Amino acid sequence: MAPISAPKLLTASTFSRFLLLLSLSILMHCFSSQATVQPPWTTEMVLYFQDFAAGPNATLIPVAGIAGKLWTFSQFGTVYVTDDFITETPDPNSPLVGRGQGMYVTSALDGSSTHAMFSIAFTNRAYNGSTLEIQGTSKQFEAVREYSVVGGTGKFRFVRGYTTFETISADTARAYSVLRCNVTIRHD
Ligand SMILES: *[C@@H]1O[C@H](CO)[C@@H](O)[C@H](O)[C@H]1NC(C)=O
Ligand SMILES: *[C@@H]1O[C@H](CO)[C@@H](O)[C@H](O)[C@H]1NC(C)=O
Ligand SMILES: *[C@@H]1O[C@H](CO)[C@@H](O)[C@H](O)[C@H]1NC(C)=O
Repeated sequence: MAPISAPKLLTASTFSRFLLLLSLSILMHCFSSQATVQPPWTTEMVLYFQDFAAGPNATLIPVAGIAGKLWTFSQFGTVYVTDDFITETPDPNSPLVGRGQGMYVTSALDGSSTHAMFSIAFTNRAYNGSTLEIQGTSKQFEAVREYSVVGGTGKFRFVRGYTTFETISADTARAYSVLRCNVTIRHD
């Protein structure tokens, strides 16, 4: 009998301790979930840039470069202006989130790096009129390119963080590619 009743007693006494711990942890959870709405907090987004590098509806165009050289991605000094549209999914017909507007300059003498400076100008309901400012140099031909988020406007005042860009599909005949842009930002 003893081996059976002993665990029962133990269970009864640990149960009240369990209740105490439970109410403590509920209290602590309330405090910690309240704390998450206080800054700093982190926002993550996954956006898709629809990029047309040629044709009548090009959204990325070389506008300047070194005289006598071809104005290409891999030629140092080539300046591109861009106004890509940004969508919720890789599908170009998916809902618009905003536009990626600014410039890229091929900034390594050997052509391997590009310097990006552009805004993500949001037009979706959640962030309409707000912008994120993207800047930095990255190895343009690597699978993952990373740039800083140096600031923002509207709902993104005082933010900072980083973005990664990956080319997830490329149709070379149409000079059309879709870039996945992951944004991680911290709000003060
Ligand atoms: C360019 O855009 C116009 C207007 O949206 C459209 O009618 C045309 O088919 C597009 N051309 C190409 C090559 O995508
Ligand atoms: C965004 O704001 C503009 C005016 O500032 C307005 O015309 C447009 O309808 C708004 N878009 C959304 C999705 O709320
Ligand atoms: C970007 O986000 C997607 C979806 O969460 C993920 O699959 C991908 O690995 C991320 N890319 C990078 C470079 O972190």
